[in-house]
Amino acid sequence: MSSVFTPSSNVADLTESATIAVSSRAKALRAAGRPVIDLGAGEPDFPTPEFIRDAAKRALDAGATRYTAVPGILPLRQVIAEQAAERLGGASVSPEGVVVSTGSKQALFNACFVLFGPGDDVLVPTPAWTSYYQMLMLARACPIAVRGARDASLKVTPGDLEAAATSRTRGIVLNSPTNPTGALYDLGELQAILDLAEQRGWWVLSDEIYRAIAYDAPAPSLLDAARGRPRARLVVIDGVAKAYAMTGWRIGWSVAPPEVAQSMAALQSHTTSNATTVAQYAALAALTQRAESQRAIAAMVAAFDERRAAGTRLLRDARIDFVEPRGAFYLYIRVPRGSDPDPGTAFARRLLETRDVAVVPGAAFFTPEWIRISYAAPLDDVVEGVRRTVELMAG
Ligand SMILES: Cc1ncc(COP(=O)(O)O)c(C=O)c1O
Repeated sequence: MSSVFTPSSNVADLTESATIAVSSRAKALRAAGRPVIDLGAGEPDFPTPEFIRDAAKRALDAGATRYTAVPGILPLRQVIAEQAAERLGGASVSPEGVVVSTGSKQALFNACFVLFGPGDDVLVPTPAWTSYYQMLMLARACPIAVRGARDASLKVTPGDLEAAATSRTRGIVLNSPTNPTGALYDLGELQAILDLAEQRGWWVLSDEIYRAIAYDAPAPSLLDAARGRPRARLVVIDGVAKAYAMTGWRIGWSVAPPEVAQSMAALQSHTTSNATTVAQYAALAALTQRAESQRAIAAMVAAFDERRAAGTRLLRDARIDFVEPRGAFYLYIRVPRGSDPDPGTAFARRLLETRDVAVVPGAAFFTPEWIRISYAAPLDDVVEGVRRTVELMAG
């Protein structure tokens, strides 16, 4: 029977998240009995720490089952504002500038939708997480890919951004540590980008969802870089998903100028209202019980670091080109070129079909000559998956 459905122009250009598509394919193959090693998922493989689960159970028993205010419960917004103020060196941050959302994904969508619209160009340092492009296009703005140099770990400089800017440029979406490369912008690099954005009157959206997962040095926040400066056009996005192994709880937030926060809350009031009440209480425990949190995060980061060391050792020994990861939990690997216009996708397909290893093609991050391996998976899987990747590259 032919379908009666024609997608509206709102979503005509929308594509499914490629990272989720890979995971779905790997799960389907597994369900069919294939021993697939899934290095596609961008999700910590640890349970949510017990003290957070306990706090959620207590909150449920105490009746945390009803609507809350749209931008979230006040104690959670307060602690988010306090922690932002600490980063800013004691400047005051009002809870009125904080909106809690259903994952940092919704916080990012809210920000893109209220800040940008038709006729606006937004610079996206690329490779970049697949959803920024789609969110900007849903807002009818135009994402402009800005490629960073290979010898700068694919990070962009103010010079790269200026070269891509036009009179229509309204903002930039930063992400450090970066998905998919694991590259990390240091304080000086963030300050230089802020200087340019200030000069040009651009909005800066900083997606800091991986900030707690850093190895050789702590990852600075854009708020650290903004100490002592005007913050008129900054929106910082964070959440509990990656740092606290809380992907399924769906809690993220934005810290923004209060009038922007108000606009985002108004948008959210017509889409999802408040983020799940009990999950907000779980996030409150994660942010306020700092000693337990720090212990839990340190243990997870140590496990990621062991896998990072094992994976990078295999790649280095095989002389394969990859970005040295300083944060997050990804290895970004360059695929031998050949004549294929999308070598990453061809390689990922062969790796899955012939070696039972699922990875994400770089096309998902607008850099088709690469693949992304996630090491948010057991050490043995990471070692075996990288070993088979190396083997296929050599073969
Ligand atoms: C760069 C980046 N930002 C945001 C998100 C979304 O996180 P959340 O689960 O908080 O919506 C992800 C998830 O993969 C991500 O990689």
